[in-house]
Amino acid sequence: MASVKFDHITFRYGTNTILEDFSLRLDEGQIMGIVGPSGCGKTTLVRCLCGFIKPEKGSISIGDTCVFSAEKRINMPPEKRNIGVVFQDYAVWPHLSVYDNITYPMRKRRIAKEEIVKRADYALSQVRMTDYKKHLPSQLSGGQQQRVAIARALVTSGKLIVLDEPITNLDLKLREEMLEEIRLIQKNTGTTILYITHDQEAALRLCDRIAILDAKGHLCQTGTDEEIIYRPANRFVFTFVGVSNFIPVAKKKDGLYISVGEQMKIRDGIPPEINNLRSPVMGVRPMDILFNDSSPIRGEVKSATFLGNLYNYFIQLGNRQIRVQQNTLDVLRTREYREGEMVGLEFARALYYEEPHEGVEA
Ligand SMILES: Nc1ncnc2c1ncn2[C@@H]1O[C@H](COP(=O)(O)OP(=O)(O)OP(=O)(O)O)[C@@H](O)[C@H]1O
Ligand SMILES: [Mg+2]
Repeated sequence: MASVKFDHITFRYGTNTILEDFSLRLDEGQIMGIVGPSGCGKTTLVRCLCGFIKPEKGSISIGDTCVFSAEKRINMPPEKRNIGVVFQDYAVWPHLSVYDNITYPMRKRRIAKEEIVKRADYALSQVRMTDYKKHLPSQLSGGQQQRVAIARALVTSGKLIVLDEPITNLDLKLREEMLEEIRLIQKNTGTTILYITHDQEAALRLCDRIAILDAKGHLCQTGTDEEIIYRPANRFVFTFVGVSNFIPVAKKKDGLYISVGEQMKIRDGIPPEINNLRSPVMGVRPMDILFNDSSPIRGEVKSATFLGNLYNYFIQLGNRQIRVQQNTLDVLRTREYREGEMVGLEFARALYYEEPHEGVEA
């Protein structure tokens, strides 16, 4: 088990700044997810951590060991950093058997033979691949190959494993299994895991804590799944971690109104958090909008779709179309609504953000 600390890291490819003054802390024994849109710098961060590329500024520590410091001119070579890593683009060596794939990194490090056998057998049993020792990767499914890659990471390091987007090539069912698998491996071994993905749903399900990066590689927020979902730090995080509606609001003497061509009052008084916003918009999740026939906020149902565990509605509210979702149990308590019907709506939970202006997107 080891903690990881990125301290004020700056990294550029030529003049292209990928990470700037980036700091992040990962506690030992945790699964930390790093989530962000494609191209934001996640793999770059992993490469810095593993020592394949060198930041221009800052420092990186693993446990008590400083593996990189620009100031102190420390740059420990990758093989000494003891990180088990599964990269997104290649997982296993195609010409080596499962067993050789797993033992190769240890043989390279000249670990004693008995120890190699012991560790390989343990790692194989952890990922339930003992029966496949002699197979070549081409004889395995995608999910099994990923498991081999994880086993190889496990034998390389019992203290820190980095998984860079390890399951995107798998189908949905296998993906779910792999997430379970990773959880289980973490529980059994206590290893610290850094899990990199742009799939925020997978991260929310798997990780103890999540760090969210925006497209420019800025760290927007770190937190537990609950903190990220219920208290998103900014509009980007709000949008990134789920379906969202944004509706402009207007502050008036007697309360708050939505501005959707016409104005409709949604509450008395002005929530204090929007006092200093110039053009506030209300962010509201589809599940947090309720049907209420007696509400003066009226809209027309444009489409109604049943999605198995929930109903999805698009509702025309003035000049805006918003999305409303109800789970099937709620529908039992209210009723189903049909296309063309006028309905009353209530906003049960909302957050407020500054409306982005031209060229400025939060
Ligand atoms: N070797 C390189 N030389 C120059 N630019 C690079 C190099 N590798 C990556 N980049 C650029 O750095 C930026 C960040 O890339 P990175 O691979 O870290 O993104 P990512 O967050 O891992 O994306 P994805 O989710 O698609 O894997 C991208 O704009 C990419 O084009
Ligand atoms: Mg990447």
